[in-house]
Amino acid sequence: MAEYVINGGRRLNGCIEIQGAKNSALPILAAAVLCREEVILHNCPIISDTDTCIKILRYLGCSVYRDGHTVSVDSRNMYRYDIPAELMREMRSSIVFMGAILGRMKKAEVSLPGGCELGPRPIDLHISSLARMGAEFEEGHGTISCSTEKGIHSSEINLAFPSVGATENIILAAVCSDSTVTVTNAAKEPEICDLAEFLNKCGARITGAGEGTLYIEGVKSLSGTQHIIIPDRIAAVTYMSALSVCGGRLLLKGISPLCLRGTANAFEQSGMLADYDKEGLHISADGVPERVRLVRTMPYPGFPTDAQAPVMAMSCFARGTSVFVENIFESRYRHVSELCRMGANIYVQGKVAVVEGSRDISGATVEAKDLRGGAALVVAGLGAGGRTVVKNINYIERGYEALEENLGNVGADIIKM
Ligand code: EPZ
Repeated sequence: MAEYVINGGRRLNGCIEIQGAKNSALPILAAAVLCREEVILHNCPIISDTDTCIKILRYLGCSVYRDGHTVSVDSRNMYRYDIPAELMREMRSSIVFMGAILGRMKKAEVSLPGGCELGPRPIDLHISSLARMGAEFEEGHGTISCSTEKGIHSSEINLAFPSVGATENIILAAVCSDSTVTVTNAAKEPEICDLAEFLNKCGARITGAGEGTLYIEGVKSLSGTQHIIIPDRIAAVTYMSALSVCGGRLLLKGISPLCLRGTANAFEQSGMLADYDKEGLHISADGVPERVRLVRTMPYPGFPTDAQAPVMAMSCFARGTSVFVENIFESRYRHVSELCRMGANIYVQGKVAVVEGSRDISGATVEAKDLRGGAALVVAGLGAGGRTVVKNINYIERGYEALEENLGNVGADIIKM
């Protein structure tokens, strides 16, 4: 298993190009199976999760070519409607292929998805929503089969929780149909808006994306298009957290103020200076962050749960005590034990984590246990004195493109072994 070896305490200075958003690229790659002409996606991040998506698309019979950050998909010759368990297990978002395949083939066969262990990751909202739209389900031996022999019918769906994945699956199942589907309490994340914009460019009729109530008026078929994936707001937050604990100045290119909705206040509290211009986001920090009083993770536009771990790593070095409340996932503090191994003072009680900042964080050998928790360990290693080894970086490489190169290019002492 590969690992990062970090010698902390180096200031960061320079420019980082922010990658395309993992959580936008994945549903849009799945959506490509609905298009009757070639789609060309730009700014698609080179990470293992997009590699997995490409493997699934090729298994289904699509032609897929990747040239750097550009991926073209031609699904005209798609002939399969099932995804083998070993591919489904590689990532959580494989579940959105269910809606896309159902929309294209009128049937789909998938198994329960894999992905980061953040507590139980049920798909009850996915299934109940598609069932309400007319899909018939059979489950057994870890496999879910669904079909819409009678087609998707018009329905109004109220999501008990604004689930990102369930919202995506509803869109993908309904977009090519003879019906109109309304979704209330829909997820409002920027990645939902990016998926809707991509599909509308292909001829879909989706309105209300990002506003909480979605209207999907089904169309007969979708054309192809070219599309640029939005920047990855969580990657941006991760680099910002790294600068906070290292000190220095960075230009984060390719991001907009929208990327920081929900997290800007936390970085203001930390004392980071930030300024946008046409080049991107200019940020500077002195390397000793102020505490972040209270972080409560919420659906967008609240503080994103994916930012909790990197910002917690930052708060380990802060002046004062920061409090975190993780409201989205049941088990998203698996990085805490590893941060404590480095000398962090963190106390967890249920959803609440209390972090007493300290200047005595020192390097150690730690293990990534999920994607964002692993990134948090890299942030802590950059700020800590001495040498940190982060093991199991396969988790991190699922979602971060060229993390060690980007950090090394701006002064960090980090190598991949
Ligand atoms: C997406 O996961 C993201 N993944 C996650 O990012 C992100 O943390 C999450 O949305 C919340 O923003 C991708 O987009 C690939 P949810 P998803 O459905 O769709 C419960 C990362 O690090 N729930 O919004 O799986 C669920 O248990 C990843 O990039 C149900 O109860 O998230 C959780 O508590 C991690 N039943 C909450 O809703 C369901 O049917 C949020 O889940 C579905 C979800």
